Amino acid sequence: MTENTNVTVTVSENGPYEIVGDVEILDANGVLIRETTKTFLCRCGHSAKKPYCDGAHKKFDFQDSGLAPE
Ligand code: FES
Repeated sequence: MTENTNVTVTVSENGPYEIVGDVEILDANGVLIRETTKTFLCRCGHSAKKPYCDGAHKKFDFQDSGLAPE
């Protein structure tokens, strides 16, 4: 990817971050692990496939409104 385009991050209710746009996912060493236009990143901490959501938030009944603090 060479152009920088808008990326949207949506915090879902009781679930992951939904990332939409031209995205590069880098690991802790800065190594590119995925280029995509849509992905879901875990925010519950229970995914076995971090940084991606694998649906474990449902099993662990992760609860968060996803709403911005007032
Ligand atoms: S948010 Fe889905 S597994 Fe963590």
